[in-house]
Amino acid sequence: KTIFVLNGPNLNLLGMREPEIYGSDTLDDIAGRLEDQSHQLGLEVDIRQSNHEGHLVDWLHEAAADAAQAVILNAGALTHTSIALHDAVKAIDVPVIEVHLSNPAAREEFRHKSLIAPVAKGTICGFGALGYQLALDAASKF
Ligand code: DQA
Repeated sequence: KTIFVLNGPNLNLLGMREPEIYGSDTLDDIAGRLEDQSHQLGLEVDIRQSNHEGHLVDWLHEAAADAAQAVILNAGALTHTSIALHDAVKAIDVPVIEVHLSNPAAREEFRHKSLIAPVAKGTICGFGALGYQLALDAASKF
């Protein structure tokens, strides 16, 4: 079974973007570690990034159509705004783990509300790139 790892807007800039907040690892660095970890766990990961909300909606539907084991979702800023992503997560049977590198609760007020959190199975945030590995470990047990 496959675990989808979906990343939203601006996460293609990881490593260059505000490294004091998001760390120095690039999305490719994170993807490499997830690939290694998935081989050890005997799982497949499908790691994607888009700056477009509709792509993320389509990929959530695809995860359901493929009966994916889980989705690990860092929706970036869409976390705080997207009713479409909220609805898509709610619409699918696949468990979704919300991940953030930073701890949004410790940042600006506008990051305090997540529209993903109430429909996610759980949320991992504040542990930088390690959060993705923690999420994959959790997803491997579903
Ligand atoms: C983020 C947190 C969001 O508030 C922000 O808009 C991002 C990244 C994180 O991983 O910490 O783009 O999802």
